[in-house]
This record gives sequence, C-alpha cells and structure tokens, in this order.
Amino acid sequence: MYDTRISRRAALLGAGAVAAWVSNPARAMLQAAAQLPVPAFVDGLVAKMTLAEKAGQLTLMPAAWSGGTATALNPATQGSSFDTQLDEVRQGSITGVFNGNGAEMARRMQTAAMTQSRLKIPLLFAADVIHGHRTIFPVPVGEAASFEPDLAERTARMASYEAAAAGIDWTFAPMVDIARDQRWGRTMEGAGEDVLLGNLIAEARVRGFQGKDLKANDAMLACAKHFAAYGAAEAGLDYSTVDVSERTLREVYLPPFKAALDAGVLSFMASFNEISGVPSTGNEWLMRKLLRDEWGFEGFVVSDYTGDMEMIDHGFAQDLREAAKLAFLAGVDMSMTSGFYRQHLPELVEAGEVPVARVDELVRKVLAMKARLGLFEDPFRRIDAKREKTRSRTKAATALSREAGRKSIVLLKNQGDLLPLPKSGKKIAIIGPFAAGQHDLNGPWVVYGDQANATDLASGVRAAVADKASVTVTPGSGVEEPLAGGIEAAVAAAQAADVVLLAIGESETMSGEAQSRAEIVMPAPQQALAEAVAATGKPIVVVLKNGRALALQGAVANAPAILVTWFLGTETGNAIADVLFGAYSPSARLPCSFPRSPGQQPYYYAHKQTGRPNPSDDKLEPYKAHYRGIPNKALYPFGHGLTYGVIEYTDLQAAPKLAWDGDLSVSVRVSNRGKRAAEEVVQLYIRDRVASVTRPVRELKAFRKLALAPGQSETVTFKLRRDLLLFIGRDDKPTVEPGTFDLWVAPSAEAEGVHTTFELVR
Ligand code: BGC
Repeated sequence: MYDTRISRRAALLGAGAVAAWVSNPARAMLQAAAQLPVPAFVDGLVAKMTLAEKAGQLTLMPAAWSGGTATALNPATQGSSFDTQLDEVRQGSITGVFNGNGAEMARRMQTAAMTQSRLKIPLLFAADVIHGHRTIFPVPVGEAASFEPDLAERTARMASYEAAAAGIDWTFAPMVDIARDQRWGRTMEGAGEDVLLGNLIAEARVRGFQGKDLKANDAMLACAKHFAAYGAAEAGLDYSTVDVSERTLREVYLPPFKAALDAGVLSFMASFNEISGVPSTGNEWLMRKLLRDEWGFEGFVVSDYTGDMEMIDHGFAQDLREAAKLAFLAGVDMSMTSGFYRQHLPELVEAGEVPVARVDELVRKVLAMKARLGLFEDPFRRIDAKREKTRSRTKAATALSREAGRKSIVLLKNQGDLLPLPKSGKKIAIIGPFAAGQHDLNGPWVVYGDQANATDLASGVRAAVADKASVTVTPGSGVEEPLAGGIEAAVAAAQAADVVLLAIGESETMSGEAQSRAEIVMPAPQQALAEAVAATGKPIVVVLKNGRALALQGAVANAPAILVTWFLGTETGNAIADVLFGAYSPSARLPCSFPRSPGQQPYYYAHKQTGRPNPSDDKLEPYKAHYRGIPNKALYPFGHGLTYGVIEYTDLQAAPKLAWDGDLSVSVRVSNRGKRAAEEVVQLYIRDRVASVTRPVRELKAFRKLALAPGQSETVTFKLRRDLLLFIGRDDKPTVEPGTFDLWVAPSAEAEGVHTTFELVR
C-alpha cells in the first residue's frame, strides 16, 4: 500500500501539480468546497437534545488520561482528572478530547459514551499529528524543502495510517501559515515563505490525511490552521498583532487555506492573532463572510485552544460570557479547552442573546461530521489496540521517514566538492551538541513519537562507514550554554581527524510554538565552538539543525560545506548519512530564505522593488533601499540548494507574446555536466513590470523536479496562461493586466538562470 520507492510520479509531481495549477488556477474561484451532507437522523437527534447537551457537542477538551499529556504539552489551562472527564462523557457535556493517549483511553471513553450517556452520541478524538504519529517525519518546513508535494501526501497518509489505529479521528494539521519572518518559531510547522509551494503542500497534506474516504479506519479529518495570517505576526513574535491589507491577505496568507479547502479539508482552526484590530476568533468577516459565504465552506471551525478566552486579554471582550458569545456569533463552531461554550451558551440562549437556531445549526454540523467519519455506524472503527500496535513503526513507515529525511536536506554550499565523503580512509570527528544522543531528533510538536526510537547522527554515520573506529564524537558545547573543557576537547578531536562534521544549530525547544527568537543566529557558545574548530584548518561540513532559516555568520558561514538538516525525525542519522556519503544526491531547496544578517527580518524573495532599488548587487549606493553594508538580498535565497551534479540551464525558448486567451510555451534545456547523478528543481519565476498595483520583484509560478544522470540533458517545458498572471487588484479582486513580464527559469529565486521577457496582449 505504501510505496516508498522514488517513483517517476514523485519525481514529476512538482510538474504535474503545478501544471494543473497553472492550467486552471481560476478553479480556486469556481470549485465547490467539500460537501458535508447532514444525514436524516441528525435532526431527530438534535430535537431530543437539551441545551446543555447541545453546548457539550460544541466543547472539545484536552484529554485527562495518563496525567494529561495534553495539558502538559500546552500548559495554559488546568487539567482535569480522567474520572471527571468520564463523568462529562456520561452527561454529554463534551464532544471529544484531544492529545490523549491512544486506543485504550479512546476505548474506555467511547464505551462510556455509547453505554452510559443519554443519547449515545459517539465521541470525537483529536490530536496534533503534525509530522508523524509514532514514526516521525521531518518537520513540515523541512519536508516542504523537498519540493515534492507527493512526498508530503505520502507522509501524511502514513501518519493517518498509524494515528487512526490509535483511535484518532481528527488531526490538527496541516498548518498552512505562510511564514515570511524567520524569527517566528512556527516557521517549522508550515511550508515556508512562498504561496505556490504553500498551496501545493497544503493540498497534498489534506489529501494524505483524509485519504479517499473519511470513514476508512486509516483516514483522519484534517484541519487547516491557523485561520488566518497567524504567520504575519509583527516582528515574528508569536501570538502578536497582525495588520495586513486585504490585498496581502488574499494574495499571500489566504491562498493555502483556499487550496486546503479545495482539496476537501472539512475543518479549520481559528488563529490566536488579531487582524487589523479584530481577533480571528471573533472575526465575523473572516469566519462567515469569507469562509462560508464566499468560499462555501461546509465544515466546522474550532477555536485554537483558549482563543475565545484570550479575547479578554486582547481587550475585545469584557468577560468570559461575552468572549463565548463573540466567538460563537462570529462563526467559531467549537470551543477548544476553555469550556466556555458549555459554560455560557445555555444562558446566552436563554437570555435571547444567541439564537437557538444557530446553536442547532452548529450541532447538526458537528454530528454530520461524526457521521462523515463513520462514528455513528461504528464508534470503535478507529479504536483497536491490536491494530494500534501492528501499524506502529512499520518497516514501510521507517523507510518513508528515511526517504523524506534525505529529500529534506538542503546542500547550501560545497566548496571543492568536499561532499560526498568517502566511506573509508578518512578519520571523521563529529563535533557539536547534536553529534550524538537521543535528543533533538524529532523536532517540535511531537505528541506521540518517542525520541528513543530515532537514529542520531553518530549512529547514522557509523552505520555508513567501513570502519566505525574512524569516527569520534565530541559535544564541544551545550546548545545555549558552554561546556566546561568542551572547546579544548573539540579542537583536539578536530586535530586528530581528517574531516569534521560540525553538528550545531537549534534545539527542538528553540523553534515551534511560542519560540520566537529576537535574533536568528547561532547561539554564542556554538559560534565560539565553530570558530575554534575552524581555526584548526580541518575541512568542516556544517550539519545544521534548525526549525527556521538562520543568519549564518563567521566560521559557520565560511565552512566549505553546509547542510541544512532541520529536524528529520525517526531516521535523522541515516538520512543525513545517505547524503554525507553520497548514497543520495541532495535534492532539496530552501523554502525560506537564509538572510545575510538577522536584522534583515522579515526577508522574503518576493518583496517589492521600492522606488529606490540599489542598481547593482556589487556596489551599494547611498539613498537606495538596503541596510548599511548589506545588499537587499538573501545569503541563500528561497529555492537555493545544490546537488552533487553540475547543472546548467541553456536554450530558453519562448515566444515574445502571450495572447489574451492563448498560451505560451516556455522551454529550457537543463543538463547535468557533472559526474554524479542529480535531481534538479527547475523553477519558473515571473515579474510583472508595470501594473496598477506594484508587483513583487519575482514570483514563483511553476517548478519541476527532475532526475538527471551524469551527462544527461532534458528539455523542460512549461505552459503559461493569462490566469497565471493574476494578482489582487485595487478593488481587492483578482485581475490581470496586459503588459511586459520578465521570465526566469532558474535554480533559485535570486539566481539569473536563463531570462527573457514576454508581452501579454489583449
Ligand atoms: C496551537 C495549535 C494546536 C493546539 C492544540 C495550540 O496552542 O496553536 O496549533 O493545535 O494548541 O494542541
């Protein structure tokens, strides 16, 4: 069922998916969202429910089982006891729980619901299955670096296969927030800075989680989060204010949500942030006008954790009762964690402040969703302790984790072809806080994966080389604290070796939720370690661990070889070793730009030119748009990533005109002049030179990942149509204008590649 070979389909998927997007982007405006039919029995059931039971169906709580993993993970509220929670189930005052502990808990709770509650409505079990359940896959930003939506679909499918067997019906994923400020810690949970890549990965992950049939015992309901613009927080500070124009919302932050919707997602999560003064949880325009009326969404919206309660601290609601009312009326259908709906909805209805018809409408939706998940037919369909075990950490899942891991690794730099390393004949010193040990392998936002099952770097390297004794391990430093005698030991280890693998970067608590960083640099003790090791003169391969783009400096930036390895999950060490020793030729590309300086944040490639662009990258001119001494460019831009081949772009062919209703065929010859196999991500960017609304300096419009043997050339053809040139106009509606466009086919967002212009003519 799970084919983990590199299929031709996978290799071409970038092309296939993009071609589909290119040829019919207007579908986003026309396509009906997934339907949520309400079965006939639901109305009868709603008619029997008390107001308290109705409010219960709109109340989701953190699971109390086993001491409350859920509240430990997210400690903003007090936990409950399992016995209390069972009582709530019997009373019908809870619709389900999240981040619980698997099939045994689910069996006990569901049994109580089906045998001891008045109406016998099945419970819904949710969890943050973000990048794997028991088998952990790379953090989403890493996986997006593969530029293979098909891979994201397959890992999501596998995560569902494992998690659904543990009783989980609903995952709070995918997170589809565009992240353009790398200080924001949740960059790791999304697909990076680009809209096209974000759309394709969002669709793929929804398809993967939900599968073809939501009733299947290996499918979970997906949840597009955090709606909306959570990644646009001011200065990258998590939970902070967002103030964006409707145009930017529609052009940058909303498209991945729409893509998820078009792929059939049936739940959304409201974001914590406000947008231009209105918290999303209380934003009727967002939740009702846009999501329901304009986009036709039929599923339900859940608050993000205590998002309703937080409207009090936002200064938007004066008390708990008002917060519940505002969230409810705005269109947040289910309250997570705060318990506000069950606490306040009955009295709000009785006071005439909330129409009971509205409550009924939402309860019907939730019950319809439970029916859609097959829970009324068989409440235990996903709850099976035996299946939970047999589906956990299968060989296929481990192989897929390794495939996803190596496809997520970006080779930033490879001076003098230092990589790949030979498997024998070299003494290797692995130095750094991430050299060895069962820590920081899974990455942030893992609820169920056990780090003890993951392969660390040293084990991966030792398994790959001919002589294990040729490998030494020296931590050299803590992550954020120096280690007594660490640098001396590291220098000695480097001196005794032929090559150093410098395993440095961020721990898993340095990115993820609430982990914004004011400066996205290497922590000082590790920078000091890098400087000391570099001073030995030994060749260094930096093996970066990171949940976001970093501003690399000094000895780290100057190392001859740099690999971005994110958090790769279960197969971390093996996946990195595959790349280090050439079993796999790196093929990933940065989904977020690595700036030259931390102070450049937010830096993203698709920025505007301004009225005073600096004329050349070589010379900075005064009174032009750049920071002192720093070109307005990335050190390693979006789309950048090397292979072990030598790739050349030639023979760009495109007609000079694109007719209004015609198409333009763009072809380019891509060759591998090197001695090793390579996979190249061929990227097509455009720039609309003059428009009624200023346009970015470049926008990715299509890409294709292709495998090239040594010496092989291929002609890659893209088809452009007018729809592809759409932008959000002055009236906040999609528009397209005739005129001149630049076009590049290039290996990154800031590489020249091959360039031409064309005219869109009416
Ligand atoms: C996060 C969500 C997550 C929820 C439930 C919140 O703090 O923002 O992404 O799904 O907790 O765990």
